[in-house]
Amino acid sequence: MPVIPTGQLIETAEGTGIGAFNVITVEHAEAIVTGAERADRPVILQISQNAVKFHNGQLAPIAAATTAVAESATVPVALHLDHVSDPTLWEVAPAHGFGSVMVDYSKLSYEDNVAETSRAVEFLNSRGLWVESEIGQVGGKEGEEPLSAHAPGARTSPGEAAAFVAETGVDALAVAVGSSHAMTSRDAALDHQLIGDIKAAVEVPLVLHGSSGVPDDELIRAVGAGMVKINIGTALNIAFTEAVRQHLAANPDNVDPRKYLVTAREAMAASVAHFLEVLAR
Ligand code: G3H
Ligand code: ZN
Repeated sequence: MPVIPTGQLIETAEGTGIGAFNVITVEHAEAIVTGAERADRPVILQISQNAVKFHNGQLAPIAAATTAVAESATVPVALHLDHVSDPTLWEVAPAHGFGSVMVDYSKLSYEDNVAETSRAVEFLNSRGLWVESEIGQVGGKEGEEPLSAHAPGARTSPGEAAAFVAETGVDALAVAVGSSHAMTSRDAALDHQLIGDIKAAVEVPLVLHGSSGVPDDELIRAVGAGMVKINIGTALNIAFTEAVRQHLAANPDNVDPRKYLVTAREAMAASVAHFLEVLAR
């Protein structure tokens, strides 16, 4: 099935959450598609600027592999470039077949965030791509400690969110409502009142980052309150790494990576299927 534009895929959400999972290796992409097919749900495959950095700064090989895996899917799949602050990366998103980009200037001042985001929106929208940006700060990004699950963090203000959407013309908004990136425990408590207030203030779909640390019942409530795109990364890496650890502990003489990567890929697929079933409830 051909890859579909992210905006088009998001329009099919109709009150459910659309899972957007981070791809680091080709096994991630394969597992995400397998999990989505198992759950019979659409899915977004996303590659972050940090993942590109891991691939020695090369977007093309991982983007091409991810696209090929996406095209083999029997469920709708969209491709998204995530957490991009380097303009030389978001500028090449159209050429690599991405349907959307999250530009991340959330650490800049409000004015600079508006200016940089607007520049990206103008360039990418005119080439048919959907743009997500962040207002407020979801903590725990690379080089930062994850926020404590109960820390207030830097919450998004509904008024500022509305102004930001109006001034930039973004298609989707990532908001800080109590989640934090890279959590390895699932005990984040979301601010559901705030989600509802932001939802009432802006018309574009809302995006929850750092969803690995959010328990299932909180995810269900967040989707009910208006979150649409649900970003999940660390949960897959936990599944991957635990499977590899277990395999190598039980088979210390094995040197064939296929033997442990197959267990890692299956563990990630099971995690994806679980999240997608939860988000559809
Ligand atoms: O943009 C990606 C996500 O926010 C992933 O966050 O790794 O904490 O699930 P996570
Ligand atoms: Zn994120």
